[in-house]
Amino acid sequence: MLSLESIDISQNSPTNSLSSKVYSTSIVNLSGRTAIITGAGDGLGKQVAIKLSRQGVNLALIARDKSRLTEVKQTIQSANKLLKVKIYPCDIRITQDLSNIVKKIIKDFRNVHILINVAGIWQKMMAVEEIDEKVVDDVIDTNLTALIHCTRLVLPILKKQAEAAIINVSSKSGVTAQAGQSVYSASKWGVRGFTEVLKADLKNTPVRVAGVYQSGTNTKMFEKTGEEVPSEKFTDPSDLADVTVYMLSRPEKIWLHEVRVEY
Ligand SMILES: NC(=O)c1ccc[n+]([C@@H]2O[C@H](COP(=O)([O-])OP(=O)(O)OC[C@H]3O[C@@H](n4cnc5c(N)ncnc54)[C@H](OP(=O)(O)O)[C@@H]3O)[C@@H](O)[C@H]2O)c1
Repeated sequence: MLSLESIDISQNSPTNSLSSKVYSTSIVNLSGRTAIITGAGDGLGKQVAIKLSRQGVNLALIARDKSRLTEVKQTIQSANKLLKVKIYPCDIRITQDLSNIVKKIIKDFRNVHILINVAGIWQKMMAVEEIDEKVVDDVIDTNLTALIHCTRLVLPILKKQAEAAIINVSSKSGVTAQAGQSVYSASKWGVRGFTEVLKADLKNTPVRVAGVYQSGTNTKMFEKTGEEVPSEKFTDPSDLADVTVYMLSRPEKIWLHEVRVEY
């Protein structure tokens, strides 16, 4: 823990007859902890990995594309050679592969303190009856089912820590109804429901749980489905990554269990 001293500002405030003090509590020092991040090859997950590395967090990075993961690893290690960063190319929709990867991560790192479920895909906006069967399966399998499996598989090691955290990235579409986003929304509302119950289930354990519900973020998520969206005003994923890191390295007695971000 980093102890920040209380600062007495009363001498600088001659007009204030009361002795006012600005108190600061300890903030959580993440250095030396280990985080698993899914979707770490691109967009928000990549930025979260880079920002967490600056806090001294060791990283297990998951996504399908090995070359993008390698690039993220190289970026991080060119700034900090001492950090332990390992990549685990994996399609998280294949539960047996995910299970093997989680076992490998635990073997490689011995401890895991943080799980950040970021991986997700977009569903091109259209009426539900027009959505291809494969798209329905892909969106639900990636955004919801895999997130549940990943959490289920990582939880036992998180519970062994003195303090641990799970952050699930949902979406504004997980708290509101946007026309044309039926399947994507179903997956993200599902993540929200899962996250809420997880919070209740883990209340008396060392594992804290939080959900992130952001609106449009400037990544290639939409482009990957051929969807064109006006993104000029969208949130920068790097800024959102700062928020995510703050959720973990917050003042000790604060836990932001739900963060909604609008641009
Ligand atoms: N962008 C937005 O406007 C926005 C808004 C609200 C919520 N979100 C949510 O934020 C999260 C991050 O999105 P983003 O915008 O950063 O998207 P992104 O740039 O497309 O990144 C998505 C990441 O997920 C990984 N991924 C996708 N399918 C996977 C699979 N089957 N197995 C393993 N990894 C997989 C991708 O890597 P590979 O393709 O290499 O596997 C990539 O690293 C998602 O959950 C998304 O729904 C985004």
